[in-house]
Formats: sequence, structure tokens, C-alpha cells
Amino acid sequence: MSETLTLTVDSVTEETGRIRAIVLSDPSGGELPPFEAGSHIDVHMTGDLVRQYSLMGDPEDRKHYRLGVLLEEESRGGSQWIFDHMTPGMTLAVSQPRNNFPLHPAKHSILIGGGIGVTPLLSMARVLDRRGDDFTLYYLTRGREQTAFLDEIGETAWADQVKCYHRGGDPKRGLDLDALLKGPRADTQVYCCGPTGLMTAVRDASAAWDPHNVHFEWFSVDPEMEAKAADNAGFEVEIKSTGQVFTIGPDESIADVLQDAGLPVETSCCEGVCGACITPVLAGMDEIDHRDSILTDEERDEEGLMTLCCSRSKGGRLVLDL
Ligand code: FES
Repeated sequence: MSETLTLTVDSVTEETGRIRAIVLSDPSGGELPPFEAGSHIDVHMTGDLVRQYSLMGDPEDRKHYRLGVLLEEESRGGSQWIFDHMTPGMTLAVSQPRNNFPLHPAKHSILIGGGIGVTPLLSMARVLDRRGDDFTLYYLTRGREQTAFLDEIGETAWADQVKCYHRGGDPKRGLDLDALLKGPRADTQVYCCGPTGLMTAVRDASAAWDPHNVHFEWFSVDPEMEAKAADNAGFEVEIKSTGQVFTIGPDESIADVLQDAGLPVETSCCEGVCGACITPVLAGMDEIDHRDSILTDEERDEEGLMTLCCSRSKGGRLVLDL
């Protein structure tokens, strides 16, 4: 298990009626573990409640982690807990930063953020600007009143590289994604984070692009992956270090079965979006039914990685490097 940090909540600021900006720091005033643009941390709330939030600040600010939290209309407990309980001065357990959404070298970068999904892109914009790299940030929200961080963006040197669109709930209104992403460009990298409707619209509009040039940060389950659960079947996994073989039932995840057996499998989101449970597979790679939203084709096919919380086998035994 990676080390958990105990941090102090420095400030909680209302950005909009449903979005709060939160600043965390080390209680001793010391430096925090470094992070790259695109990273997130797990925030441990009460009981088993753990949620992932992107770091939106400047990676060169080693004293603070900055988060933006939306009070979800259908909160599963995480954002509601933050709105109800998080106050300046309290302490909070968080994970070390983890990055499933890193920047890649490019002549031009297109950042597309929907609502609170803008948070990792703000961190990326700060880094790209410092490097002198060319980028445009498209920031899509329902309306101006729901648009957080506008004052902060307005004070940056890159404010004129931010294009705001108010889409009134329609992911295609305002910004013409088909025109923006027309014709794949090998010298351009695209990054998108936002609600499912926007993510799927960007995925559709960039269908002809090289997947290595288009990157998504999911904070909810990709609906294509969710639909696969109806076809679940049982299969076996073998633990390389001990030789133990476990049967995974149609309604069980590999992570659940191995954790119940006392094996050291770390989990957080349990939805294939955070990366906590990524594990190397030593045999049976062709059998893996990947259902996460974070691993790249390279990580799956060349490095043999899988997520144990949601991915499964198509039938054959998987041998895990545990
Ligand atoms: S626990 Fe988050 S990806 Fe598996």
C-alpha cells in the first residue's frame, strides 16, 4: 500500500453555488510529495468513503495541493461529505498523487474541459505555458454562473488561450467538436476531462485520430465498459508468487476475491478510473477483458497490465505478478 498523507485543510472557498476550491498543506508547513500535471489524489472521508480529485494547482508549488469539488446532483456521498464537513483547520487523509493523465510532447495541445473536469487541465495549462508550448484550453460549462475559476484564469498569462463555451447542458452546443477535431493531426495531443456526454462526444469526434494522441480522464465509469457487466462469467486467476489458484465468480471482482484471501491488492475507486489496483499479468494476456478507463493500449498489450477491480478474463486462467 502506498503511504497515506495527513494534511491540513487550509481553505475552503465557494467558487459557484455548487463548486468549492480547497487548498491542502502539510501541517508542519513542509513540502508535499511532488506531482505532475494531470495527477489526482484519493481523499479519504468517513468509513470506507474514498473519492478521487484532480490536482488543479501548479506542480511547482510544493507547499499546496489544490482541488476543485463539484457538489454532484446525485452524490454517492463524496462531494456531499465535503460540502457538509470540510472546514479550514481540519485534517484529512489523502493518498500520494497518482497520474493516469500525463502530458505528452506535442507541437500543439488541445485541452477540453467540461465543468469541474477543467481542474486537471488547469494544472496542464500552467505547465504548458511555463514550457512555452502552444495550447488552447476549451472550457465548456452550462452557463457563466456555473463557471468556476474564471477570476483565477483571467489573471494568468495564458488567459487569452482559454475559450469558454456555455453549452446549457448540451455537450455539442457552443463548441463544434467535429470541426475542432476534423482530420487527425500527428503533431497535436488532445486531452479531455468532463461529464460522460462530453467525453463520448470527443471520443466520437476524434475516432479517426491515433489513440496515442487523444487522452481522457474518467471520473465515472465509461458507459461502454459498464454495459459489458451483463456478460460476466467465472474464471480463474493464479498468483505467481504462491501458486494459489482462485475462482472468480460472475458477480465477484478479482480484487475482492484476493483481498478476502488476505492478498495485498490496493483499491480505491473500484470502477477502473483511479489506477490503484493496476497489476502486471504474466500469462493469459490474450484472455484479458479490459474494462478500465485508464490503461493505454501500450500498457495493456506491451506491458501486460490490467486493473483488478473491474477487468476480467474472457475465460482462460490469468497468472498475476503478485
Ligand atoms: S481501484 Fe481504481 S482502477 Fe481499480
